[in-house]
Amino acid sequence: MTEKHLAVIVLAAGEGTRMKSGKPKVMHEIAGLPMLGHVLSTANALGAAHVVPIIRHERDQIAAYIETFYPNAKWAEQDHQPGTGRAVECGLDALPSDFNGAVVVTSGDVPLLEVSTLEALIEAHLDGGYAVSVLSSIADDPTGYGRIVRSEDDELQTIVEHKDATEAQLEIAEVNAGVYVFDSTVLRSALGHVGAANAQGEKYLTDVVSVALQAGHKVQALAVEDNWQVAGINDRVQLAEVSAELNWRICEAWMMAGVTILDPASTWIDVTVSLGQDVTLLPGTMLHGMTTVAEGASIGPEVVLVDAQVGARASVVKSHVNSSIIGDDASVGPFAYLRPGTEIGAGGKIGTFVETKNAKIGAGSKIPHLSYVGDAEIGEHSNIGAGTIFANYDGVEKHRSIIGSHVKTGSHNVFVAPITIGDGAYTAAGTAVRKDVEPGALAMNVAPQRNIADWVLDKRPGSKAAAAAESAKNQK
Ligand code: UD1
Ligand code: MG
Repeated sequence: MTEKHLAVIVLAAGEGTRMKSGKPKVMHEIAGLPMLGHVLSTANALGAAHVVPIIRHERDQIAAYIETFYPNAKWAEQDHQPGTGRAVECGLDALPSDFNGAVVVTSGDVPLLEVSTLEALIEAHLDGGYAVSVLSSIADDPTGYGRIVRSEDDELQTIVEHKDATEAQLEIAEVNAGVYVFDSTVLRSALGHVGAANAQGEKYLTDVVSVALQAGHKVQALAVEDNWQVAGINDRVQLAEVSAELNWRICEAWMMAGVTILDPASTWIDVTVSLGQDVTLLPGTMLHGMTTVAEGASIGPEVVLVDAQVGARASVVKSHVNSSIIGDDASVGPFAYLRPGTEIGAGGKIGTFVETKNAKIGAGSKIPHLSYVGDAEIGEHSNIGAGTIFANYDGVEKHRSIIGSHVKTGSHNVFVAPITIGDGAYTAAGTAVRKDVEPGALAMNVAPQRNIADWVLDKRPGSKAAAAAESAKNQK
């Protein structure tokens, strides 16, 4: 079979009422992607000529997502007639009229299904000359699923929905996973013969099995060994369970690739994240979006990285980092907040209770304590004193501060932007820097200190401070 003769229909038109959500079920995220994203990525990986998601409820939201992130997929809309069989019929109508070959059907709410499982099902389907191949699983609790009914010689006979099953059929543990490969011609004609005379009044896709069999075609059900792959998500409890399982699988893959993860249960890694060898992830670490962490870096405990780029051997402790770049050997935290546009050069340091935004910080420069650095450019090997504020906002516009290389600024400075501090300049403690400072100069604008002798004794007589002062003076 060539890819030209393969189409994938993804069922996503159901209501998802059990999620009790304003958001469509298939748009709920696990590991950084909507469930539908996982399924469409898998569909794309098959290289099929046609990928057709079927949508209806919350159509606009889902369509917008598909068009933005999976532009090759051409969604089709299900009409008012309910049922998985009708959904697939609407999908077939969206295929080119001369299409023939294999049609894979999967569900938008079964996110852990792997490409290799689908490939094996397609191969068994084509090699054996089947018209219908169904993926099944042996369920611990088959409640709610369609049951796989086999003949005495173990051949697939039919699929009976839970609500239509007899007492004896309800005892069957083998269930329909809702994942299929069909011959397109047989599927089209069989669906034409499927009605809706069942407990739910719906056109069931599962009825294609018995119709195809009666028409003399070969049908089979193949049991998957890894039940998680066919786990469907119908409510938020299942969402949490499947999320945890996927997260464990992601952590496991990274550990096998040479990443140390101290506590996978409290470490959450999106599928889009990439990690280098000998990275260490400490408990309470969440890595989201397009985050990358280079070899030897240590992240955590308690760190959130969103779209962050962390260099080799860098360390990030108890911090929140969003859309920022952290250079090789740099260190961040504990308790730092790096907002979008922060770039720290190699060996740089962002210390405790420091917030940065849109700030480019050169190699070896340090902002160790209690500071806000916004809209700034700092050269190399400069040190920003404790408690410094870059005052970037005049109430109307944001302005930039430029600090040179090898600059040492005193504690508790305010840089009132726009401002430029030249290379090798110093500023004194407590300076509110309002004028540019030339290279090598010391800036200070603090008024000379005046001590008014015995002010406390005169103005606060009888206070504890006055008593302490009195006693200190007497001891002299
Ligand atoms: C379906 C199967 C059942 C199987 C189970 C596996 C049928 C008749 N039954 O049951 O044998 O064990 O999946 O999870 O197929 N959908 C549409 N349009 C519709 C109805 C559903 O697109 O009109 C979509 C849903 O969004 C969902 C999928 O089809 O992604 C399955 O629908 P659902 O209602 O969950 O079917 P089940 O009752 O679970
Ligand atoms: Mg379901």
